[in-house]
Amino acid sequence: MEPILEISDLQTHFFTKAGILRAVDGVSFEIGAGEIVGLVGESGSGKSITGFSIIGLVDSPGEIIGGTIKFKGEDLNDLSNEQMQHVRGNRIAMIFQDPMMTLNPVLRIETQMIEAIQAHDNKISREDARIRSRDALGLVGISSPDERLRAYPHQFSGGMRQRVSIAIAMLNRPDLIIADEPTTALDVTIQGQVISEMQKLCRETKTALLWITHDLAVIAGIADRVCVMYAGRIVEQGLVANTIANPLHPYTRGLMGSVPSQNQRGKPLQQINGMVPSMLSLPRGCAFQNRCSYVTEKCSTERPDITHLSDKRQVRCFNVSEVP
Ligand SMILES: Nc1ncnc2c1ncn2[C@@H]1O[C@H](COP(=O)(O)OP(=O)(O)O)[C@@H](O)[C@H]1O
Ligand SMILES: [Mg+2]
Repeated sequence: MEPILEISDLQTHFFTKAGILRAVDGVSFEIGAGEIVGLVGESGSGKSITGFSIIGLVDSPGEIIGGTIKFKGEDLNDLSNEQMQHVRGNRIAMIFQDPMMTLNPVLRIETQMIEAIQAHDNKISREDARIRSRDALGLVGISSPDERLRAYPHQFSGGMRQRVSIAIAMLNRPDLIIADEPTTALDVTIQGQVISEMQKLCRETKTALLWITHDLAVIAGIADRVCVMYAGRIVEQGLVANTIANPLHPYTRGLMGSVPSQNQRGKPLQQINGMVPSMLSLPRGCAFQNRCSYVTEKCSTERPDITHLSDKRQVRCFNVSEVP
């Protein structure tokens, strides 16, 4: 599969009063055309900032200080603001946890959707843009789309509002959608519906999808491949099926233990002991050392590099062979 997005050694740091916070610290991964990749990790691990870096939405005191983000072979860091604006919402779209990041509360859905289309296509008539908007609402499972187009965001439920923001993301047929915890705020039933609809839509339209979540169970349901992120770095990557059947990094194992369906019935859910270290003062060596049951002396002095294994598996740990 031809990669549509190639991120190599991405470093996005925040220059705060308290010091340099390495939110993204040498992240590399690829997404193939039409592929669905999950980015998973606990809160604060740098997932959103990775997404914002790709779409060019990192604000001061944050800055991309290293690495490359190639989209269809072109380095996004080389683009002007204007060119980047064209890429955003047209070739790459983003869906946020809070749909109101996308929606304007004072405008009818129709107005917002038509504007989103016309912003990237100045030849399309208002009527044609309206028809495309109506069809897009239908595609994300909104009934009576003609009527719903006339509504304002507050007239929708949370789940429906998120569906509208998904419809807007898909309006211009982007090549890549970055979805940042889009179902986290929804109740479990609606969450499941939105996930399977999103998966179906991306498959049908061959849209690549980067799905960001703290919940490994969600990744199991939607993605082809998974990247596990911890303290600003990817610690494990692989096909979802392999990674879930046989997690290699101790951190991935810990995340698995907290997935209800992977847990033996009746047993309490396992938790990963300890806390994520402060991103302002990461320890020397492996960032996971203080929580790891396989820790050795080497882990406190040296940083493990990525090891490439078979089957597109990658893992960043000295003790992989020790993990049963
Ligand atoms: N505007 C900001 N200023 C300073 N630090 C930030 C800012 N935004 C995010 N961070 C820090 O960057 C790290 C990664 O954040 P984020 O990518 O949002 O994590 P995740 O999405 O995995 O929960 C966190 O330690 C967070 O506190
Ligand atoms: Mg986040």
